[in-house]
Amino acid sequence: MKKPKRVLIVDDEEIIRDSMAQWLESCGYETYVASNGKEAIEVLRDKPIPVVLADLVMPVMDGIAFVKEARRLFPSISVVIITAHATIETAITAMREGACDYVEKPFCPEAIELVVANLTQHQELLVENERLRLALHEKNRLEDLLFKSQSMQRVADTIRAVAPANTTVLIVGESGTGKELVARALHNLSERKGKPFIAVPCTALPDSLLESELFGHEKGAFTGASSRRRGRFELADSGTIFLDEIGDISNKTQLSLLRVIETKEFTRVGGSELLNCDVRVISATNRNLPSLVKSGAFREDLFYRLNVVTIELPPLRERREDIPLLTQHFLEKFSAEQNKPEIEGFAPEVLKALLEYDYPGNVRELANMVEHAVLMAGGTQVTLEDLPKPQKALDDTYAQPPAGLTLREVERIQIEKTLEQTKGNRSKAARILGIERATLYNKLKAYGLM
Ligand SMILES: Nc1ncnc2c1ncn2[C@@H]1O[C@H](COP(=O)(O)OP(=O)(O)OP(=O)(O)O)[C@@H](O)[C@H]1O
Ligand SMILES: [Mg+2]
Repeated sequence: MKKPKRVLIVDDEEIIRDSMAQWLESCGYETYVASNGKEAIEVLRDKPIPVVLADLVMPVMDGIAFVKEARRLFPSISVVIITAHATIETAITAMREGACDYVEKPFCPEAIELVVANLTQHQELLVENERLRLALHEKNRLEDLLFKSQSMQRVADTIRAVAPANTTVLIVGESGTGKELVARALHNLSERKGKPFIAVPCTALPDSLLESELFGHEKGAFTGASSRRRGRFELADSGTIFLDEIGDISNKTQLSLLRVIETKEFTRVGGSELLNCDVRVISATNRNLPSLVKSGAFREDLFYRLNVVTIELPPLRERREDIPLLTQHFLEKFSAEQNKPEIEGFAPEVLKALLEYDYPGNVRELANMVEHAVLMAGGTQVTLEDLPKPQKALDDTYAQPPAGLTLREVERIQIEKTLEQTKGNRSKAARILGIERATLYNKLKAYGLM
């Protein structure tokens, strides 16, 4: 279906308005009308209309004020001014304010149609360019994962390489780095695509329930087990099971998991029948599994079964090149979801703040920040005021040490701070700073701190 070609006609004279609308309708346009600039802005807020014909002299808000406001709110809009000969000078002023053309009264309808047709074509080209620009991003995406940084390009390469194999994969990374997205990408790029992808948030359930959740249970297996129930391994058959937060499961469940991975067989809780399953196991954790293995909290044999391949997701603060792309993506997503097409971008200082922030909650935190900002934004740009509060407060605390210092100065400040923290204890301070006590001593002397 072809997209409708929309035109808005703004004129205080009903006869002119309606006859223009009628003519343009007969040429295949979808027309909208307004009797002054203010009304026109309301119409535009309601619906994206790329081309506007506006009279110059109107009550409430005249043509010039309208052009100014329309271009402020919708920078890519095309406004054509309709003007009587006597006001041509004013029409030229309107063009300085961003109108793209003017038509002199009296006009013949064909002339109007020609101008509108040209502008509509121009607008369609703009949309097409935008589409191409987004398509370019395809090299910066894998399934739902978006990235620009080299570290994430490597992650994407690994995903592409291991997805088709049936190996278990362990995904590690801080909270909100995209572990679940990676798991889904692995599934969708394998021949198991279209088969079940079952995610199990392992920490969400107490251990006793987790076993029955994973393997199902027989009727009467425990109090409350009033009927037989199939577990997630059965539901995931011929597909993928995603064991999230694997670092937190008990030793007993670890052993059951080891068995099912090794033998591809399991029994329901309270049952004796051995069931077969063909399930690919992908797991994730934000904990340090090797150190859990060392401390005995995690079975070493299970660890080696799970991490035939490990995919490590770097925290967002270590791949800031991804921030602009992600920010733009979330802006588009949330402004569409919240029906705010007028939001076109971020004020430069917002982008700067977003680029500099440290994101302890990683991509999820960035997404939440943009969602909040879109909700708060009143105009066409997201401003610093629209960002959630804690992030603004963090501006100050994060920006330490400030830019513009020499390395020597930064070093001196860091030494002073550490000594403050250790209440003047130099041995402790040296340890924290990772230098010999003697080196610290020399530096203190050099900086005149003793
Ligand atoms: N590279 C990315 N591109 C697009 N969206 C992303 C990316 N990484 C993360 N996200 C989004 O960020 C949010 C968090 O991602 P996800 O749930 O996969 O993180 P996680 O590592 O599983 O976090 P947790 O450890 O807290 O469960 C999701 O909304 C996800 O869509
Ligand atoms: Mg997750």
